[in-house]
Amino acid sequence: MRLPILANALIALFALSFCAAEQVKFDILADSEDTSQWFNSDLEHQYSHLSNDSLLWGPYRSALYFGLRPRIPRSLLSGLMWFNMDNYDSIGKLRHFYEQGDNMKRANWVSYDPRIGGRQIIDDVDSHIKIIIDFVKSEDGKSWGVKVKAVPHKGFENVKTSFIWYSGLESKKDNDEDRDSSSGYLKLENQKNVLGYKGNVKLSGVSEELGLFEIEINDGPKTNKHPSSGKIMDPDLDPSRAHHYSLRVPNDNVWKARDIFITMLQESIKDLVEKYPQFSEFPPEQAFIIRDLHNFEGNLHFIQKVYEGACEFDVVYTNAITTSNDKITFDNINVKIKRALDGVNEKFEQKFSLNKPFNKSKKFKAFGKELLSGLLGGISYVYGDHLVDRETVFDEDSFESYELVGSFEGPHELFTLVPSRPFFPRGFLWDEGFHLLPLLKYDSDLVLEIMKSWFNLIDDGGWIAREQIIGPESRSRVPKQFQVQSPEIVNPPTLMLAFTFLLENVKGENDLGSIDEPNTVDGDEQVIDKSHLGQILLNNPELLTNYTKEIYPKLKLYYESFRRTQQGYVEEFDRGTNREAYRWRGRTVSHCLASGIDDYPRPLPADVAELNVDLLSWVGVMSRSMKMIASLLKLESDVSEFGKHEKDIIENLERLHWSDKDQVYCDLSVNEDDENSHECHKGYISLFPFLTKLIPEDKIHKLEAMINLIADPEELWSDFGIRSLSKSDEYYRTGENYWKSPIWININYLIIDSIQHYYGTSHTHMSEELKEKFKTVYKNLRVNIINNVVDKWESTGYVWEQYDDATGKEKGAKNFLGWSSAVLLMMNMPEEL
Ligand SMILES: *[C@@H]1O[C@H](CO)[C@@H](O)[C@H](O)[C@H]1NC(C)=O
Ligand SMILES: *[C@@H]1O[C@H](CO)[C@@H](O)[C@H](O)[C@H]1NC(C)=O
Ligand SMILES: *[C@@H]1O[C@H](CO)[C@@H](O)[C@H](O)[C@H]1NC(C)=O
Repeated sequence: MRLPILANALIALFALSFCAAEQVKFDILADSEDTSQWFNSDLEHQYSHLSNDSLLWGPYRSALYFGLRPRIPRSLLSGLMWFNMDNYDSIGKLRHFYEQGDNMKRANWVSYDPRIGGRQIIDDVDSHIKIIIDFVKSEDGKSWGVKVKAVPHKGFENVKTSFIWYSGLESKKDNDEDRDSSSGYLKLENQKNVLGYKGNVKLSGVSEELGLFEIEINDGPKTNKHPSSGKIMDPDLDPSRAHHYSLRVPNDNVWKARDIFITMLQESIKDLVEKYPQFSEFPPEQAFIIRDLHNFEGNLHFIQKVYEGACEFDVVYTNAITTSNDKITFDNINVKIKRALDGVNEKFEQKFSLNKPFNKSKKFKAFGKELLSGLLGGISYVYGDHLVDRETVFDEDSFESYELVGSFEGPHELFTLVPSRPFFPRGFLWDEGFHLLPLLKYDSDLVLEIMKSWFNLIDDGGWIAREQIIGPESRSRVPKQFQVQSPEIVNPPTLMLAFTFLLENVKGENDLGSIDEPNTVDGDEQVIDKSHLGQILLNNPELLTNYTKEIYPKLKLYYESFRRTQQGYVEEFDRGTNREAYRWRGRTVSHCLASGIDDYPRPLPADVAELNVDLLSWVGVMSRSMKMIASLLKLESDVSEFGKHEKDIIENLERLHWSDKDQVYCDLSVNEDDENSHECHKGYISLFPFLTKLIPEDKIHKLEAMINLIADPEELWSDFGIRSLSKSDEYYRTGENYWKSPIWININYLIIDSIQHYYGTSHTHMSEELKEKFKTVYKNLRVNIINNVVDKWESTGYVWEQYDDATGKEKGAKNFLGWSSAVLLMMNMPEEL
């Protein structure tokens, strides 16, 4: 497995020339006052450059407790693993992937911004330690540092812990056999020593995308202790030394680092057992040290350390291009971490102002900051292929589930947030729009980067997969029967909802065109710098227009295909001539996964005549959003076309979906005589035209019906938030009870937001009594939800996927940050209308 000598020589040569080239560029950069100007004075290019640098590195392997990678398809992947060494069993709890079932008191970012860095705290009950991980980036975004600190739990002061850091370099080239010098390398700099290493261990590497770099790991301060119990049973097993192991793995396999490590460890133990009859006397802190049995040298490197009691150590990654005072070193890392944490704190305070009664204690601020940090800490970058079934055509009448057979498509890349790092560590279309809401004012540039990444996935047919299971690592977390996506299935277009919110913000606050900074006197003289990042696109109408122009064709395809594929029957069932009416495809008797509210009751028996009120509302959101976007681009005929759709949708929501008898909006189907009939299950579905603001402002009677449904404890009101299905419904709390009673934060946010919206637009037309009702519901609902989520966060250490409507108890996936982070937006809203 050793590289042939010739290849080594080539690599060395290549590295030299690379080094020289970097050096030249570096000198020019250092000479120029403004580096962005040197590259290009074009504003768009300046922005793209700043943005790419600032978002290059991050803990974008969010499925791991801590895993770093750059936003580059195949490149350098790093990760942290650890396990307890007090006994022989704990190796079974070697931590790597963040798993729902792991016994962690808490595990989340408590302070984090992707452009700066931050802190994650992991309190590992079974390993008896609390781990604090600080991650910090250099100003140029090209280098970083990590500090890992472990604090033993009380009563476990002498706990023995092993930490393993790994870094693996994957290559741009698909075929590993072709790997030559230009694919780069990653190698150990220390003089190889099978006995282990005292002090620092250093790797150096080069790749086309990253250039030259070094990764160095220290042994931490003198206060660290290594286990010193008894004699060293084999010279290779000294726990006071760092141990290094390297091997070659093909592309798309570095993510298996944990399995690879375990396999190598097993091999070492097998060898020791053969060599030493008394092996069972080896203490665990020696037995579980990885040994360099083969003298391999490859692209994946493990560095293992063993400590006793409290300990800390640092890892620094230095890119050759980073200037010396910007570099993160073992000497300055503490200062840089402090600066980063202060920076995140400042930004949080600047962007969020918690409102009464949540500004009275530090607890709420810490909670709010953790919501935001946990959300941002879920930002992931993935690259690879995914499985799509374009063959199976659903039979309209069957309402059965299909076994899909996929073919690989791609590769695709995606920059996304995730619903829950331990449970759903990948992109979900329905969730993503909600994920972006708390970030709109915090960092709209980031939001637009993420949206663009999603919109890029829209295929030529205008379809985008509901769940993004990209690459082998993502697939490994999903049962086989759920890995394949079908173009027949759509999902709520929440990204359009978020885009509408964004454009409304611009309209409301900036009046597209009047800009304070940076000034836009002469387009080409304009210079932007890193401090503007976060609000650059929204503050520069031309940039925003260019951005919108770029995504518009895809959005239009998406819109058209969405409407075409989900079109419902109108004339066929005597429903007039307005054809804005839709039916979710792919529903089964019990589930409508496409709608996102999977098991919510729908008309039975299922019938092709069905029309879904939530779907029509979503199409309305799309029409309105497309209208705003077309208007930004001054595409007059598109504006009027989308405007017409929106108008027709509003009309049909009233005409087809309003039930006078039930006084709510309902799905429409037909009875045995093929006559139109509403099937009403009061709950989130009934509120959709209200939640999407598609009820005309002057329809006070409808608004009153909505608030009455929300406020009634026998229907939707609970002390912990608005329940998904009415207490009076026959299916309440039945079956898997996923969307049949629990409280969901995303919908509760829309409810509060809509109450605020309609109070604003319509209160002058409301009776005193109705106004009072709006105000009371708003005030109490906001406080009820926040208090319950905070309560459960305090008692369990996490924010959750759902909350029980009867008890407020947490349910479902943990660390669901995720759309449950919308609580942060609620904390920012005024206490009263
Ligand atoms: C917008 O795009 C046009 C055409 O691609 C380009 O010439 C212009 O410089 C861009 N505007 C800005 C502000 O970068
Ligand atoms: C920024 O990254 C994107 C892809 O992620 C790339 O298309 C673009 O060219 C980059 N911009 C610059 C200035 O390098
Ligand atoms: C909380 O905010 C309100 C305004 O929303 C303000 O009047 C009050 O002084 C604040 N309280 C604290 C403790 O900062």
